[in-house]
Amino acid sequence: MSYRIGVIQPNIVFGDVEGNMERLLKLVNALREWDLLVLPELTFTGYVFESREEAIEYGKRYMDESLKWMENISGEYGGGVVAGFVEHVHGKVFNSAAIAVDGEIKGVYRKIHLFYKEKEWFDPGDKEPFVVDVGKARVGIMICYDWMFPEVARILSLEGADVIAHPANLVYGYAYTAMKARAIENLVYVATVNRVGRDNRAGMDITFKGGSQIVSPKMEVLYRAGDGEEAGVVDIDLSLARDKRYTKLNHVFKDRRIELYKRLLKP
Ligand code: ACM
Repeated sequence: MSYRIGVIQPNIVFGDVEGNMERLLKLVNALREWDLLVLPELTFTGYVFESREEAIEYGKRYMDESLKWMENISGEYGGGVVAGFVEHVHGKVFNSAAIAVDGEIKGVYRKIHLFYKEKEWFDPGDKEPFVVDVGKARVGIMICYDWMFPEVARILSLEGADVIAHPANLVYGYAYTAMKARAIENLVYVATVNRVGRDNRAGMDITFKGGSQIVSPKMEVLYRAGDGEEAGVVDIDLSLARDKRYTKLNHVFKDRRIELYKRLLKP
């Protein structure tokens, strides 16, 4: 069951939303065909905010435009588009990622596990991870530092995800290896999509190194980006993610011993 995942690894300039959108469009136009397109965390604005107030300001000014951009791209080219954006709603501000399918926003995931200063800028996500149909595939979303918590990928997989879209702005490189483990332990595909460029502001200086990757349920790296701006696609076989048997006698979900995992639900 063939399915095509596209990756956009852009150079993002903090605060230059119009310029970022123009550069994104060029990368999108270079690709043209995909079933699911994945872009990074905080794709349109950049990552390092000075304060919660600044994040709210960006959410107020650019949330609608960001969602519209995604709707337009998925409407024009068909298929699904996942991208991170600043969500401002009812006085709260979230580090979120939306999923647009065939021109319409189908869901918004709010990052549950906030990394470092994000705790000063954003409210933590307040909703459970979910899965959306995108053509033949079921797609779940998690954002960057969520990788540190295997529960998120597990929940998405138990919900039926074939593909986990993982928009990221990676500060360290550990996630590339960790997400291979998330792929095999759940027998799902994982698309971790990073950005390039530098956010040097508010006392932080982060250079994002790209390296976006798509990993198969067998931990194979099917796509690996370089450290520059880049767009690419890979064809995957969805049937690999539908069969949860690891051997004839092992099934990665049915083999779980949840009666012995009660400790997991305690603080
Ligand atoms: C991160 O969660 N953006 C490191």
